[in-house]
Amino acid sequence: MGMGMDEKSPQDQAFRAVAGYWASQTLYAAAKLGVADRIGDDLRTAAEVAKALGAHEPSTLRLLRALVTAGAVRAEGGRYGLTPFGQTLRTGVPGSMRSFFLGVMADDHRRAWASLDQSVKTGETAFDRIFGMPVFDYYASHPEVSADFNDAMTAGSAAVEAAVTAAVDFTSFGRIVDVGGGNGGLLSAILNAAPKSEGVLFDTPSGLAGAKDLIKARGVSGRCEIVPGDFFAEVPGGDLTVLKWILHDWDDRRASAILGNCRKSASPGSRIMIVEVVLPDGDEPSIGRLGDLNMMVMTGGRERSAAEFRALLEAAGYTDVRVLPTRSPFSIIEARAAG
Ligand SMILES: C[S@@+](CC[C@H](N)C(=O)[O-])C[C@H]1O[C@@H](n2cnc3c(N)ncnc32)[C@H](O)[C@@H]1O
Repeated sequence: MGMGMDEKSPQDQAFRAVAGYWASQTLYAAAKLGVADRIGDDLRTAAEVAKALGAHEPSTLRLLRALVTAGAVRAEGGRYGLTPFGQTLRTGVPGSMRSFFLGVMADDHRRAWASLDQSVKTGETAFDRIFGMPVFDYYASHPEVSADFNDAMTAGSAAVEAAVTAAVDFTSFGRIVDVGGGNGGLLSAILNAAPKSEGVLFDTPSGLAGAKDLIKARGVSGRCEIVPGDFFAEVPGGDLTVLKWILHDWDDRRASAILGNCRKSASPGSRIMIVEVVLPDGDEPSIGRLGDLNMMVMTGGRERSAAEFRALLEAAGYTDVRVLPTRSPFSIIEARAAG
């Protein structure tokens, strides 16, 4: 998008930065409309796509061309197909990220992001100020928004399940507890990689709303117990406790309370594995820096460096902390319950 500017000029960078926001909105609209589902593995004209969507044809053509620019669609002789990235906008295909767009770019998230400047000024969580309550309380009383968020988490987790199960051998753990495990996508993948292990999926009732169906569909319902609860009150114990995308939702005080409850129920020698994007030290750029602001506006939590995870874990009574990289942006911070 040169807009007549020198491609490398700072002004061009500014145009591109704003267009990055437009590109995200374009992809979100395509996900909402179900554009990728209408194209599938075929090449379609804009007229065919518009008809299948029941949409305005000239506007559909403009959307498709913007999707070419955003990298999701390819044009071939007046017809449009999906790139590998565009395939992720389809529903129900392996590797689908459509739900991730729908949940994480939904109205609640966008309203919170629109108040980022206020959060920076005041240190307050934008979501709480706008909606009058913390996000997980809001989800508990808004099942449809919560279902979209849970689906987004399932899609986001599915994208890293293979990387997590490739990085760690889970077969030596008898009982594996996923704390805040949502609908159980990651735990199902772990149980499928460890066929003799048993799982405990722990979350709030709203977090677990789709768990029974998903666990059944993944073929592990016979080995996976679903336990509703509150990790600020009590957490079930096991040989391994997994927390993915949990601690980043909370400030240090509350993250310590969750870890303290995990430690309370853990027998000496049992393990804990935290699956998160780990921030680099200092000012080095990382996608985690943007996720950190997502936490600032949505939950009041934060992304953390390896040293920050280590400090939290050691204060909660864990030892032998080590960080295992995976082939995804996520790392596994592993530790042992001190004897
Ligand atoms: C960011 S999501 C991560 C879900 C899942 N671990 C994943 O990575 O896909 C955070 C999860 O924490 C759960 N949660 C929030 N507050 C909780 C509480 N007080 N007790 C138990 N679970 C809670 C939410 O319901 C949600 O499923």
